[in-house]
Amino acid sequence: MNAVMEAMLKHASARQFTEQVISQETLESLIRCGQAAASSSFIQAVSVIQITQTETRSQIAELAGGQTWVVNAPVFLVFCADLQRVNYACVKNGLGALDGHTEHFIAATVDIALVAQNVLLAAESLGLGGVFIGGIRNNPQLVCDLLKLPEQVYPVFGMCLGWPVHTNTLKPRFPVQSILQTDQYDLSQVASSVDDYDQQMQAYYQTRGSNQRLSTWSAQTAGAVQKKQRAHMLKFLQARGLLLR
Ligand SMILES: Cc1cc2nc3c(=O)[nH]c(=O)nc-3n(C[C@H](O)[C@H](O)[C@H](O)COP(=O)(O)O)c2cc1C
Repeated sequence: MNAVMEAMLKHASARQFTEQVISQETLESLIRCGQAAASSSFIQAVSVIQITQTETRSQIAELAGGQTWVVNAPVFLVFCADLQRVNYACVKNGLGALDGHTEHFIAATVDIALVAQNVLLAAESLGLGGVFIGGIRNNPQLVCDLLKLPEQVYPVFGMCLGWPVHTNTLKPRFPVQSILQTDQYDLSQVASSVDDYDQQMQAYYQTRGSNQRLSTWSAQTAGAVQKKQRAHMLKFLQARGLLLR
């Protein structure tokens, strides 16, 4: 174990922040750390929009389901999968515009997720905290309108960053034995792995510092995937010129 690994294992999302600002210099260093992530074929299909205007933040907080930390966080960023530069590269080199291939959509989405995770980890290594905001996909078109995002660009998630008021209890993950498999996928262990983890998470939900409840990981997850189906996403992405073939 080294300092980097210890920082990774200390991750817990933070949603309450002090009023202390994050300097622009620090933010730019965090973004540089984000950009250092690997990129599929080096396409770097990413853009990050820093939202400073309170009115824009309020509208995003509301569409994300009333997430007040979007307004209160010292920094709020929207992470976008961005194929505009790649598209330009194709046109510039006489190969025609991009036409919505699924693989390009996946590559861009993976690229921005890697950037964002690096940003959060770098922030946490400085004692900052943060949380991803997938809730922006409740109304991605409104986010595009507010941020004037062009076609070939879509907002994947937001992120709040700031100095955390307190440290949240760490959420236990599945045991490594459930996640790390050898040579072939072992379908027979899925049910027992979820059943065992449910017991562990039930104890966690009942005893954690705040928002205690009687629940399990499977109950939580089954509920979440019903609630967050976001049936508008396919049409939204296709209207952006993505996921067309
Ligand atoms: C892509 C993504 C979207 C998320 N969206 C939200 C969100 O909209 N609001 C929120 O409070 N947390 C959000 N989270 C945070 C998760 O709820 C959190 O990471 C998870 O419960 C595990 O807790 P931990 O990060 O404290 O370990 C999101 C996380 C990810 C990776």
